[in-house]
Amino acid sequence: MTTPLSRIGPREALLLGAELKAVYAAAFAAPPWSEPPLQSEGFLVRLRDQVARPGFRCVVAGERDGTVGGFALGAIVDRPHDRPLWNPILDAVVGAQLIDGRMRDQFELLELAVLPARQRRGIGGRLLDAVLAGLPCERAWLMTRMDALAARRLYTARGWTDIAVVHFPGHSEPRVIMAATLPARRMEESLR
Ligand SMILES: CC(C)(COP(=O)(O)OP(=O)(O)OC[C@H]1O[C@@H](n2cnc3c(N)ncnc32)[C@H](O)[C@@H]1OP(=O)(O)O)[C@@H](O)C(=O)NCCC(=O)NCCS
Repeated sequence: MTTPLSRIGPREALLLGAELKAVYAAAFAAPPWSEPPLQSEGFLVRLRDQVARPGFRCVVAGERDGTVGGFALGAIVDRPHDRPLWNPILDAVVGAQLIDGRMRDQFELLELAVLPARQRRGIGGRLLDAVLAGLPCERAWLMTRMDALAARRLYTARGWTDIAVVHFPGHSEPRVIMAATLPARRMEESLR
């Protein structure tokens, strides 16, 4: 049976926060991320910030027992220079002009995670397609690890390309910014 996906709003995402965090922690505990359990504590703090951003979108994959098997979430880039994670390093590496001129008003994929036991069954790809479907944006952006092979293959297979490599102080592995051109929204969607 195909895992059903549902789109949820900011309030529901907050209510599901503990479950989303558990999926995040399990997915990012595996290499190459190898995030220690404590690091996933920041997930709920980020989520509270993310749900308040314009164009917030979250799609969850529901298991038969009602639990969450994976999720994707993102939002529209509104005020890039207010965001603590990407700046000022991005300013220096990518250039403020790129961020202001091309990233602003575009969709940023913020999180994508599938429980390890549920991976490689097409859920991640479907989550990505669903979170991007019908967006009022021309492009989408994300940042990932250069060596996150599963994610990188998923994105490149769907037409995402590398835009810039970012070396964050304290991280041995570089991050890579990827972007995709989104299909134009259908007329009936834009009229809703
Ligand atoms: C990336 C991730 C969400 C993919 O989820 P998934 O449900 O396994 O993805 P899918 O089954 O839809 O796979 C889609 C494609 O991605 C690639 N892929 C997925 N897992 C892969 C792996 N372990 N090795 C190589 N390629 C892989 C393949 O191209 C695959 O297509 P194929 O199965 O036809 O070959 C999942 O591996 C994950 O949660 N990883 C840890 C967290 C992470 O890296 N998130 C993204 C951060 S930006």
